[in-house]
Amino acid sequence: MNKKKIVVAITGASGSIYAKLLLDNLLKLSDQIEKVGVVMSDNAKEVWRFELGNEDYDHYPFTFYPKMDFNAPFASGSAKFDTMIIIPCSMGTLGRIAHGISNDLISRAADVVLKERRKLIAVVRDTPFSLIHINNMKTVTEAGGIICPASPSFYSLPKSIEELAQTVVSRVIDLAGLSMESYRWNEE
Ligand SMILES: Cc1cc2nc3c(=O)[nH]c(=O)nc-3n(C[C@H](O)[C@H](O)[C@H](O)COP(=O)(O)O)c2cc1C
Repeated sequence: MNKKKIVVAITGASGSIYAKLLLDNLLKLSDQIEKVGVVMSDNAKEVWRFELGNEDYDHYPFTFYPKMDFNAPFASGSAKFDTMIIIPCSMGTLGRIAHGISNDLISRAADVVLKERRKLIAVVRDTPFSLIHINNMKTVTEAGGIICPASPSFYSLPKSIEELAQTVVSRVIDLAGLSMESYRWNEE
């Protein structure tokens, strides 16, 4: 199996726990991964501090890029990152991507993934959605992106918030083409 080069973008939607769990999961999948580059918006850091009560995103052994660093490899298609996961993805970031407004590293990296016909997974979070949000999701889907709403499932009978949030992150891992054991409906 070819090892993957993955961009994880974290934005300021509610649900920092999804980003934390994804980074935790990626650590455990290092045999399938060549590189993980991470970029966070300012609001992502603020929401992480508020919702998780720490700044532990600094503790991961991945390469973190400043949000305006257009020298990051994945700001160009030539670096050949396979997959970009935006988790959680705010409506603001979704809108910028849908309209090609590449004015920071997150929206530029998404622009690159779409133009190179690689995999973009946007774990969108807001409720309810306006028609603007829905149209932006449609646009990104038509451009080849995958909208994976941060909608947890309950049929695995999760016992904690972490287990509940993991139901979303497990789907993201599957969509990214990584192999990981997780609950699967009606499988022993
Ligand atoms: C605690 C908190 C929770 C938020 N939750 C959401 C959310 O669920 N969805 C959303 O689209 N924006 C949410 N926002 C607003 C975004 O952070 C804001 O629109 C920001 O400009 C997004 O910028 P970014 O996409 O660059 O992170 C939240 C803000 C805060 C402070």
